[in-house]
Amino acid sequence: MRNVIILGSQWGDEGKGKIVDLFSERFDIVARYQGGHNAGHTVFIGDKKFVLKLVPSGILRPGKQAVIGNGLVIDPAALMSEIETLESLGVAVPGRLFISNRAHVLFPAHRMMEKMSEGRPGRVSIGTTSRGIGPCYEDKIGRRGLRIADLMDRGSFRARYDSVMEEKVTIAKAFGIYEALDLDAIRVEYEAFAERIRPMVCDTAILLNEAIRAGKTVLFEGAQGTMLDIDHGTYPFVTSSSASAGGACTGTGVAPTRISGIIGVSKAYITRVGGGPFPTEALDGAGDRIRKRGNEFGAVTGRPRRCGWFDAPLLRYTAAINGFDSIVITKLDVLDEFDNIPVCVGYRLAGRDLTEMPPTVAEIEKVEPVYECIPGWRASTFGISSYDQLPPRARDYLAFLETRTGVEVGCVSTGPERNQTVVRPGSRLEKLLA
Ligand code: GDP
Ligand code: IMO
Ligand code: MG
Repeated sequence: MRNVIILGSQWGDEGKGKIVDLFSERFDIVARYQGGHNAGHTVFIGDKKFVLKLVPSGILRPGKQAVIGNGLVIDPAALMSEIETLESLGVAVPGRLFISNRAHVLFPAHRMMEKMSEGRPGRVSIGTTSRGIGPCYEDKIGRRGLRIADLMDRGSFRARYDSVMEEKVTIAKAFGIYEALDLDAIRVEYEAFAERIRPMVCDTAILLNEAIRAGKTVLFEGAQGTMLDIDHGTYPFVTSSSASAGGACTGTGVAPTRISGIIGVSKAYITRVGGGPFPTEALDGAGDRIRKRGNEFGAVTGRPRRCGWFDAPLLRYTAAINGFDSIVITKLDVLDEFDNIPVCVGYRLAGRDLTEMPPTVAEIEKVEPVYECIPGWRASTFGISSYDQLPPRARDYLAFLETRTGVEVGCVSTGPERNQTVVRPGSRLEKLLA
């Protein structure tokens, strides 16, 4: 049995897409377990660039199967356009992509509701991706959501759709929003989407469990990151799903007893998009340097990502929540030109050392990071694929991160392409993937 979860250990955009694509070669199936088209996972293969939003990165490996689990919210228009783009780039999708009949359906009205809540005076704006993700999950938890299985049943879909949408329009009007959504036209459009996705829809929990029983292997792909998890992240500046490792089980219907390993992905520094507390944010020129060298602009919204220094207490926290066996450090090359690299090794609050991640935004905002400065290596690591070839100071930096986080660094990424990666010989990560 070899079923591994790969997920983000920071605030998203850690380079999960590249790492999942790379390791998917060693698995039969890649399954996404939460989120929606708020995710943007970038993969470079040769001269082709792919940005995956809803479709698991495993689709890029010929012969592999890709599963969109029950934990996702699916905007069918976004999904169809993503499939069309993949096909135009030569990726075969039919017969390889499977969509859970229990995933939830995202409608334009969800975007309208989000615009309303994000823009309301007096309400804290989260700085979302404006895709309607939160309101769709609200409907799921509120037990009024429409699922893919409902979309497949034209008779009952119509009645349920009309009733749910009427409620949304009533709420929007109460708040003075009169967005002209042509609800009938949208319903007809969704009925057409239903026919296009019908051949891909199935009970993916059964598909996955039967595959595992038959000896096949599954790689679970997380979206967002643990600090954006609805329970464990910097609430309310989070996304609306379970991005942490536990979400892989609830979001696919595969039991925890079937999981053999969990790998976290982290940048050699840290970034965040949108609002919310960020203890190690570099608000000086260093943040701009990281953004420029790392090309830190959102893959979905194009927004500049906030940049800062590696935060070891944060990683210790996310390692505990997820039970990481190993971590992958990405974008090491982005730090190549720094003379010194600060690493946050502890938090202080009101004059005392903290041993835990504070639960409230107010406290996290007041946290004072304690830094240790590590000498930079001032040499190019770009594209290096063997651990021994990394400059000694770069290896010292990685060793320092290992000591301060208590987690093995099993893999290092030195560029966006598949071959620009170091897997450390003898690591737990190597054994998990063997
Ligand atoms: P994801 O959402 O976690 O999949 O990450 P994104 O795709 O949003 O952002 C990561 C960005 O960094 C992408 O543009 C990747 O192509 C790029 N990337 C990934 N790993 C590396 C690396 O090791 N070095 C460099 N320079 N870029 C990388
Ligand atoms: P990937 O999978 C980085 C952030 C948004 C916002 C918050 C809530 O590419 O790592 P939402 O639209 O989800 O309700 O927004 O979460 N966010 C991400 N940040 N990477 C992502 O995905 C993100 N998905 C959502 O910026 O702060
Ligand atoms: Mg991303």
